[in-house]
Amino acid sequence: MRQTDRAVIVTGAAQGLGLACAERFIADGDRVMLVDIKEEALLAAADRLGDRAVAHVVDLASLNADSAAAIVASCVEAFGRCDVLINNAGMIVQADFVDFPEDGFDKTLAVNLKAPFLLGQAVARQMIDQGDGGAIVNMSSVNAELAIPNTVAYACSKGGMKQLTAVMAVGLIPHGIRVNAIGPGTILTDMVRQSVMQSDAARQTILSRTPAGRCGEPSEVASVAAFLCGPDASYVVGQTIYPDGGRMVLNYTVPVPE
Ligand SMILES: NC(=O)c1ccc[n+]([C@@H]2O[C@H](COP(=O)([O-])OP(=O)(O)OC[C@H]3O[C@@H](n4cnc5c(N)ncnc54)[C@H](O)[C@@H]3O)[C@@H](O)[C@H]2O)c1
Repeated sequence: MRQTDRAVIVTGAAQGLGLACAERFIADGDRVMLVDIKEEALLAAADRLGDRAVAHVVDLASLNADSAAAIVASCVEAFGRCDVLINNAGMIVQADFVDFPEDGFDKTLAVNLKAPFLLGQAVARQMIDQGDGGAIVNMSSVNAELAIPNTVAYACSKGGMKQLTAVMAVGLIPHGIRVNAIGPGTILTDMVRQSVMQSDAARQTILSRTPAGRCGEPSEVASVAAFLCGPDASYVVGQTIYPDGGRMVLNYTVPVPE
C-alpha cells in the first residue's frame, strides 16, 4: 500500500483517542477526514489541524450501507482516494445487568460494532477498486476479553470487535488490505480524566490492576495505530494489540472482605 500522503478516515475524531490518531497521521504527512457526531468540536479540531484535515459530521448510531458509502465518497471527493480507516468511535452505557436498558444495548452495538462493519465494508470496496491495498484498524478494548459487571453491551461490542477484526482480516488480506485492532487499557482522555479519575476509589481500583502504575496517554494509542498502518507492520494481520500498561497479562488477586 501507499506509505506517504495517505488518505485516512478516523471516526470519533472530535476528541480523545480519535483526535490523537488524527493528529498523529497528520504529523506523519497524511491527510485525514475526521468523522464524528459532535459538530462544533469536530469542526474546531479539523480547523486546528489545518488544510490536510476535513470534517464529516454523521451519527454513526443510524449508519446504513448508503450513509457508510457516503462517508467514503466524501473522503474520495476530498483526497481522491482512501488508504486507511481507523474505526475508533465508541460509546458506553453503564447499568447493572438486570437493569440494563434495551435501547442502550441496541445503540451501543450499533455505534461500536455495526458501524465499524458497515464502514469497513464501504472502505474495503474503495480500496479494492484502487487496487493497491490499505490498512484498517478497529478500536477495541481490554473489555474484548475482560468482564466488568455493569457494562454488558460495551463488553459484547468489543468482544464482537475481536471477531469482526479477524473475519475482516482474513477476508481482505487477499486484496492487500491489512486489518488489525487496538485494545487500550485505561487511557487519560478528557472523558476518563473528568469521570473515573475524579474519584480516589476508582483511581485506586484502576491503578491496582495496572502494573505500569499509571494510565496511558492518547498519543501512546495513536502510536500503535501508526505502527499498524505502516510498513513495520507489513506482516501483522488480524491481531489485537493491547496498549494497557500490563493489565491483560496481570494475574491479579481480588481483595476478599475479612
Ligand atoms: N479511553 C480509554 O481508556 C479507552 C479504553 C479502551 C477502549 N477505548 C475505546 O477507544 C475509542 C475512543 O474512546 P475515547 O476514550 O477517545 O472516547 P471519547 O468518548 O472521548 O470519544 C469518542 C468519540 O466518539 C464519538 N461518537 C460517539 N458516538 C458517536 C456516534 N453515534 N456517531 C458519531 N460519533 C460518535 C464521540 O462524539 C467522541 O468524539 C472507543 O471506541 C473506546 O471504546 C477507550
